[in-house]
Parts: sequence; C-alpha cells; structure tokens
Amino acid sequence: FISFSQYKVGFSQCSTTHEWRKDQIKQMQIESALYPDIELIIKDAKNSSDNQITQIESLINEGVDLLIVSANESKALTPIIEKVYKRGIPVILLERYIESNYYTSYIGSNNYKIGTEAAKYASKLLNGKGEVIEITGLLETWPAKERQKGFKEEISNYPEIRIKKSIEGEWSFSKSEREISNIINSNVSFDLIYAHNDLMALGAVNSLKELKVQNRPFVIGIDGLNGEFGGIQAVLDKNIDATFLYPTGSELALQIADKILKGEPVKRQNILETIVIDSTNAKIVKLLSGQIESFQQNLEEQSSKLNFQISKQQSQQVVLMLTIAC
Ligand code: FRU
Repeated sequence: FISFSQYKVGFSQCSTTHEWRKDQIKQMQIESALYPDIELIIKDAKNSSDNQITQIESLINEGVDLLIVSANESKALTPIIEKVYKRGIPVILLERYIESNYYTSYIGSNNYKIGTEAAKYASKLLNGKGEVIEITGLLETWPAKERQKGFKEEISNYPEIRIKKSIEGEWSFSKSEREISNIINSNVSFDLIYAHNDLMALGAVNSLKELKVQNRPFVIGIDGLNGEFGGIQAVLDKNIDATFLYPTGSELALQIADKILKGEPVKRQNILETIVIDSTNAKIVKLLSGQIESFQQNLEEQSSKLNFQISKQQSQQVVLMLTIAC
C-alpha cells in the first residue's frame, strides 16, 4: 500500500488580506506537490498576533514536524516561536524575523538593504534635493523597521534631502490613502513618497488623484508583484516610478523544510535577491513573471492529474485487497 505524508509541516501565515500573501501561499501549495511525503497545513492568523499564537499552539498539538512562520508582530510572536524551537521542532522564519535567535533558518530579502537602495534611487529621482514623505508598514514588524532604518541612514548622506514626515500606513491601502489626504489637505508640500509596500504607494496615489494634485510627486514602493493591481503594472501605468522586488520565498521554504526533515544541512540565513523595477525594465519583468506563472500553473495541473491517478490507483488497491479478503 502506498503511504504518503510522512511529515507534517505547518505554515503559520500572519494574514491573507494582501495579494502578496495569497501568492505566497499559492506558490507554496504548488511547490508542495513536489514533496509527496510532506503534508502542508496552512493557518491564516488574519492580522492578529493572538490568533497566530493560538494557531501555532494548535499546530504543535497536531504534531507538526516543522514550522514555517511569517510573524504578524515580531515581539508578540517571539515567546511562542521560542517554545516551538525549544521543543525540538525546527522553525523556518519566512521573511519576518522575530526578536530571538531560537530559529533554524531564515528565508527572505534583506529589508535594510531594500531601504538603502530605495534611498539611493530616491536621491537620483530628486537630483540630490527635496522633501520626502515616508509611509511605513506596521512598525511592530521586522520589515517595516528595517526598511525605515535603511532608508533613513542612507538618505542622511544627502544633506539636501529631508524626510519631512513619516507616517504609519500599517501595510494598508486605505490607511495610507487617508494619511496622505490629511497631509495634502494641511498644505504640506513634498517631492517624493517612499512607501514600504506597493499597496500603500497606490493608496497614496489614489488620494493624489482624488484631490487633483497637479504634478504628481515621485512615488517609490516595494513588492513588485505581477498582475492587474501589482507594482509592476503600476510602474507600467506610470502611477508609481519604481518598486523593489520582494520575493515570497515560498519555493525555497519548502526545499529547505524538506532538507531539514531529512537531516541534511541547511544555511541559517537564506537571503533572497531584490531588483529595482522601473520604466527601464518593467516590461521584461512582467513578461518573465508571466512565463513563470504559466509554468507554475502547468505544474499545478500536472500534479493534480498525478494525484488523481494516485488516488485512483489507491482505490483500485483497496478493491483488490477487499476482493482477496473475500
Ligand atoms: C504583505 C506585506 C507586503 C510586504 C510584506 C512585509 O502582507 O505587507 O506588502 O512587503 O508584507 O512583511
């Protein structure tokens, strides 16, 4: 009798409100087809740290052999993740660090570097002079802290560029839209918006449009997702000037999980590359992303056909065994 799913892998996802996280889950599910001995259990904490803690507890009770986690808030999630690790369950932190070294592997981009690269890009757009509004992600999350720190430190090398205001957009389109409207309505002038994700960049752009601001300021975002509402399209539509690709890391997460479960060595820090996407390369990046997506789609279709074949084969085996027993 064919036996599958020797291992249980839990993925504790902080939220699925954003397309970026939906993509992350989808890619992980597609990749999981390549590992029939892994059963993937996904939990969505819906932006709540309390939920996420409870869900991780229940994953432990379900007997997961490994935990992949994107922490909603780094501090709040630290004790439970430490607990998992200390129990001997390997932990992969996916693109969000916690405030502890008790983890097996980290997979994600270097958010500090994204911040410095964004600052260098901003300085070019501004020709070394101008005023910036920063829209941060939820400041309790690691990427927001690092994106802020990197940008601030790098921009200090340009004496004529000033961060005029930093507002917390909490990764949200509507919060960013509201905050930028308030700024415009109070007649604060600025030349560039640095938003910690494309969603907030687009929220800001929406309010600029609604309030009929002439001469749109420069706008920089982060994520570079493909698709109708993603950052690549926003660059092509000239709604924003640039975005920094922020890979989801899903495929690598499962590859590394598989290695850990088999007792093979893995790197502790797995830093994913990022690139700037602007008018010079947006078309080609879109084309390539599209090709990767259709390849993944294909893989998904093939694997569901294969699973169908396997379950057919399994039921035939059951029938055969029952016939023999009779
Ligand atoms: C999605 C998201 C992305 C951002 C990442 C940071 O929930 O907000 O837009 O790049 O999380 O962790």
